Amino acid sequence: MISVVLLGAGNVATHLFKAFQKSEDVVVKQWFNRHLEAIQTYKNEVEVTDALSDLKEADVYIIAVSDDAISDLSSELPFRGRLVVHTSGSVGIHDLDKKNERGVFYPLQTFSKDADVDFKNVPICIEVIDKEHLKVLKSLADALNSKSQRVNTNQRRALHLAAVYVNNFTNQLYRVAHEITESEGVDFDILKPLILETAKKVQNLSPYMAQTGPAKRNDKRTIKKHLKLLENEHHKAIYELLTSSIQHTHGRKKL
Ligand SMILES: NC(=O)c1ccc[n+]([C@@H]2O[C@H](COP(=O)([O-])OP(=O)(O)OC[C@H]3O[C@@H](n4cnc5c(N)ncnc54)[C@H](OP(=O)(O)O)[C@@H]3O)[C@@H](O)[C@H]2O)c1
Repeated sequence: MISVVLLGAGNVATHLFKAFQKSEDVVVKQWFNRHLEAIQTYKNEVEVTDALSDLKEADVYIIAVSDDAISDLSSELPFRGRLVVHTSGSVGIHDLDKKNERGVFYPLQTFSKDADVDFKNVPICIEVIDKEHLKVLKSLADALNSKSQRVNTNQRRALHLAAVYVNNFTNQLYRVAHEITESEGVDFDILKPLILETAKKVQNLSPYMAQTGPAKRNDKRTIKKHLKLLENEHHKAIYELLTSSIQHTHGRKKL
C-alpha cells in the first residue's frame, strides 16, 4: 500500500484524489490546500488541512498547485528526506527544494474539474533524480491504471510544448471555427464528426500523411477566397500562418 499526501485542490489534484480513492493500492492519508473551503466537501472521505505543520508522514507528497507556487510550497514543507513530486510539464525537477527527495509525476492529459477523466487514457511521465524512487512512482501510476514512462527534463519539456500545440492551440482553432460558423448562423455541432475524424485519423496515420485541404493541394484560388471571407484580422493572420506552415511542410511555395 502506497501512502500519499496531496497538496493543492485544483483540476489535477481533484482528479488524482478521486482516482486514488478507487484504488486498493493507494491510501490518501491527507489532503492539503491553502484554502480549506476547496476540500471541505471531502472531509468525510479524507483528513483535510490547511496547515503545513500538520502534514502526516507518507510515502509520496504530490504537489499539484499552480506552476509558479510549486517551488515556494516545496520549501515550506516542514520535513526533510521524504519523496516530494510535482505534476507540472514545465517546472524543473530542481525547482523542488533539495531538502527532500525530488521527482515529477506529470499526467499528460487535459484536466478540468467538471470533465470526467479515465486515467487509463492518461500517460504519466515520471522523472526522478535518484533511480530508487522510480519503483514507487511507477506503482502509483499502475494503481491509477495509467501507462507510465520515465522521461528526462528535456523530453518532459518537449512533451509539454507539443501538448500545447495538440491541445490548447487546436482548441483555440475550434474556438475560431465556432466564431466563423456563428457569424453565418450555422450550428458548430455539424463540425463535430470532422473534429473526431481528424483526431482518430492520426491514431493510425502520421500527421504528415493525414493532411488534406487547400494549402496542401496548393489550391490558390480557394485560399484567396477564404482570405477574402475573413474579416477578423486575428483569424486572417492564423489562416495565413498555418497555410504557409502546411505549404512549407509539403514542399509547396509560400503564399
Ligand atoms: N489542468 C491540466 O490540464 C494539467 C495537466 C497536467 C499537469 N498540470 C499541472 O498540475 C498542476 C496543477 O494544475 P491545475 O490545473 O490543477 O491547477 P488549478 O486547477 O488552477 O489549481 C491550482 C491549485 O494551486 C493552488 N495554489 C495556487 N497558488 C498557490 C500558492 N501560492 N500557494 C499554495 N497553493 C497555491 C490553488 O489553491 P487555492 O484553491 O487555494 O486557490 C489550487 O489548489 C500545475 O503544475 C499544472 O501545470 C495541469
